[in-house]
Amino acid sequence: MSTVIELIEAGAKRLDDAGVAFGHGTANAFDEAAWLVLWRLGLPIDDIDAVADTAVSPADAGKVAALLDERIATRKPAAYLTKEAWLQGVSFYVDERAIVPRSFIAELIADGSIDYWLGEHTRRVLDLCTGNGSLAVIAALTYPDVTVDAADLSVEALEVAAINVTRHELDARITLIESDGLAKVPGPYDLVLCNPPYVNSASMAALPAEYRAEPELALAGGTDGMDFVRQLFADAPSRMSDQAVLVLEIGNEREHFEAAFPRLEVVWLDTSAGEDEVLLVTKTALQSGAGVR
Ligand SMILES: C[S@@+](CC[C@H](N)C(=O)[O-])C[C@H]1O[C@@H](n2cnc3c(N)ncnc32)[C@H](O)[C@@H]1O
Repeated sequence: MSTVIELIEAGAKRLDDAGVAFGHGTANAFDEAAWLVLWRLGLPIDDIDAVADTAVSPADAGKVAALLDERIATRKPAAYLTKEAWLQGVSFYVDERAIVPRSFIAELIADGSIDYWLGEHTRRVLDLCTGNGSLAVIAALTYPDVTVDAADLSVEALEVAAINVTRHELDARITLIESDGLAKVPGPYDLVLCNPPYVNSASMAALPAEYRAEPELALAGGTDGMDFVRQLFADAPSRMSDQAVLVLEIGNEREHFEAAFPRLEVVWLDTSAGEDEVLLVTKTALQSGAGVR
């Protein structure tokens, strides 16, 4: 009989040999194999050492092999196979109707990086482009005194978000809204979180299959990736209270962002991905119009 660690190591080699892409919750073959093996065996995914030497029956090893076969053949992110993703230790339901949650904004909420701009006045939060609802849920769990509107253009993504809002018993504090950008959200908000579609056209064309398994609407941001952001910056001040701030993720698009808004005053926020992926902008800066119009 094989042990758990032997199955994980053999699975990692298979994933590497098959050239699958990572980036949907794990960054390498070992972590991805561990996730799939432990999940398939019904073991906790956060303590490999505790189960590493556990023997696995041939029947269960066969089930693990079948799951790895599926991961390799379909190139779907592991989260679509397990129907679960984790962000900041919080579990979320996910399926192909919504992008796999991995926003660095979650880190900034959890580690207090944006607390400086928040206070007693922070009562109404908007998670724009909510996808599976993960940022709305993490904001509601972190800030017990706020209510959250969570908006998305995709009705299918909102169906997934509804599952997560209920799973975390937050129906009384999170309102899901179908909206194209800010069109249908009332405001004014004291904090706006937004992880929008921002991938530029050239990068979209080169995406690995795992990313093409996700809704295109969640990723594609036009030629320079900034189509959604341009409209957002034009509309946002009218939905923000005077002290409000907007926290925006832009992935690897800092160069395109700075080319599009060269004079806009923003604060780059440090995440585990570096200082280039998430920024904060105040209502005042947006209203000044510098670099926006
Ligand atoms: C990068 S995903 C982010 C999802 C989620 N916030 C997360 O971090 O996992 C972008 C989301 O924006 C939504 N979206 C795309 N265009 C939109 C629009 N015009 N108005 C509102 N939402 C939009 C997509 O459906 C998708 O759910």
